[in-house]
Amino acid sequence: MRWLGWMCVAMMVVSIASGDEVGDRSANPSGDAPEHASGPRQLPPGELGRVIELGREIVFNTSEHPLSKPYVGNALNCTSCHLDGGQHPTAASFLGIATAYPAWSPREQRVVTLQDRSLNCFMRSQNGTRPPLGSEVSVAITAYITWLSTDQPIRQNPNKPLGPRHVPALDAHEQQPSVSRGAVLYADHCASCHADNGLGSDDGPPVWGDDSYNDGAGLSRVPKLAAWLKVAMPLDDPYLSAAESFDIAAFVNSHRRPHFELSKHLPAADARGEYNGVSDEGHH
Ligand code: HEC
Ligand code: HEC
Repeated sequence: MRWLGWMCVAMMVVSIASGDEVGDRSANPSGDAPEHASGPRQLPPGELGRVIELGREIVFNTSEHPLSKPYVGNALNCTSCHLDGGQHPTAASFLGIATAYPAWSPREQRVVTLQDRSLNCFMRSQNGTRPPLGSEVSVAITAYITWLSTDQPIRQNPNKPLGPRHVPALDAHEQQPSVSRGAVLYADHCASCHADNGLGSDDGPPVWGDDSYNDGAGLSRVPKLAAWLKVAMPLDDPYLSAAESFDIAAFVNSHRRPHFELSKHLPAADARGEYNGVSDEGHH
């Protein structure tokens, strides 16, 4: 039950952060610039604080929480990838990202809001359905993520829907990523938690198969997964080289996972609000 235990610890750390202490991780696992996570210290009073707290619960418990579960089609939670509920300094951090929106999205070919961007992760990374704009689940998640940008100056992003701490792309290395090298590395560095068959264990969620992210998700692209692995995995001690990250990413993404077709992940038009994007092709 290491995985569940770890999540409880993370939730405790975050709950402490809601009082008057920051959930500051003193270690910087990426070994990059000595930047520390610094989420806000205190929840606002009243109903707003309650809704932010609700959003945090949903981010940690997306596949089980009654408000989000109907929209999730796999075993993942937002925090499976946005580590520490998005308060991890490097692993797809939520810190500061509300400042980047509204932002231009090449994928949707529209200017999207933070709410749009969060809801789109339900369709792809969570292999589920997009919750309605303005719904309780959507507002709570967006309120939590916005709270994590407290006191940060607005820097709307004209190029991509990404905030100031987004995962940096890795330089492609000379060798092509190798699935066979990746298989050996996966067995050594990943299988202890994600299992030899990739379907997950008590110590880590599934990384392929029916309960994983679909092939329209960001992580289904090898360069994106490689870049995320470099700063995020193995959990709490990411030490892979760029070349190893590419090989493992090629191996992980060589397996079967759900296929993404936008029309199957959008709710009926009258339950959608407005889908801020174009038709049924692009998945990047
Ligand atoms: C399978 C992994 C995964 C899951 C699960 C996931 N995401 Fe993401 N999400 C990503 C990746 C990867 C990015 C791109 C981050 C980057 O490039 O820095 C991203 C980007 C985002 C962004 C934009 C970040 C920015 O810098 O502006 C938001 C907002 C977001 N996700 C919200 C959510 C929410 C809310 C959930 C849960 C409902 C969720 N995500 C679940 C992988 C995931
Ligand atoms: C010590 C256990 C552990 C090890 C070792 C580990 N992971 Fe993870 N991994 C986790 C946990 C736990 C999460 C979810 C984090 C959370 O919920 O807080 C996760 C999340 C992930 C995710 C995003 C969610 C998903 O399941 O798709 C991917 C992809 C992933 N790990 C791949 C890897 C790869 C590849 C390696 C080897 C380089 C690796 N992990 C090593 C525990 C581990």
